[in-house]
Amino acid sequence: MPNPWPALFRGGDNSVALLGVNIDHVATVRQARRAKVPDVLFAARVALKAGADSITVHLREDRRHIQDMDLSRLSKETGLRLNLEMAATEEMVRIARVTHPHSVCLVPEKRQELTTEGGLDVMGQISRVRGAFQKISAKGIKVSLFIDADLNQVSAAKDAGVDMVEFHTGAFAEASGEVRAMELKKIVDASALARRFGLLVNAGHGLDYENVGPIARLEGINELNIGFAIIARALFVGLEPAVREMKTLVSGGGS
Ligand code: PXP
Repeated sequence: MPNPWPALFRGGDNSVALLGVNIDHVATVRQARRAKVPDVLFAARVALKAGADSITVHLREDRRHIQDMDLSRLSKETGLRLNLEMAATEEMVRIARVTHPHSVCLVPEKRQELTTEGGLDVMGQISRVRGAFQKISAKGIKVSLFIDADLNQVSAAKDAGVDMVEFHTGAFAEASGEVRAMELKKIVDASALARRFGLLVNAGHGLDYENVGPIARLEGINELNIGFAIIARALFVGLEPAVREMKTLVSGGGS
């Protein structure tokens, strides 16, 4: 289907996948000393210069990495398409409506987890998700749901009325051999259904320089959101080359 938001999202027409760079772990390093550096806005500018199509941050309830001030500064930067990951809580909905990122991705959040462990159970909390979606989208912000590649969750996402889904690629990334092929098939099928429903399809979690190829080549994939692998590589080669290398893989070169 044609890309409904050409100014913001260029990949849905199945040209090439876009790369969203998640810079949470730049803030993780900074928060280790509660220092001013490394600065997330500077990181965002470097990532964009290296070819990132958007920047993602996750404002967690416990503020373990990204802080409210980071979000405020990033949201004011011109030329930066900001995707805010957040839990569907009243506090976060209020923050999204005030800071006005380009898009919000609703994710499940548990205090004890190291990272987002699974997809959002949209089916099990449809009215809560729909309520959050309506309040956020009333401000002109596109809304995505981070879900497992599960056909029932895709249908629930459609029922909730959102614009996009982001498939959790963690199980694919952690598997190998036949199990990985099965996980990929689940993503292919769920993605086909989502596109049939008119939803834009993004993917992310656990993607790295080795495993990103098959996900980047998914038919109709809009954008991949990648954080940890890029920031980890940036320690050794610098952020700009780390983003550039990933951008090449995501847009189909060298894979
Ligand atoms: N997408 C979502 C919704 C996430 O929660 C995360 C992790 O913060 C990512 C993508 C990026 O995952 P990773 O850091 O493993 O690349």
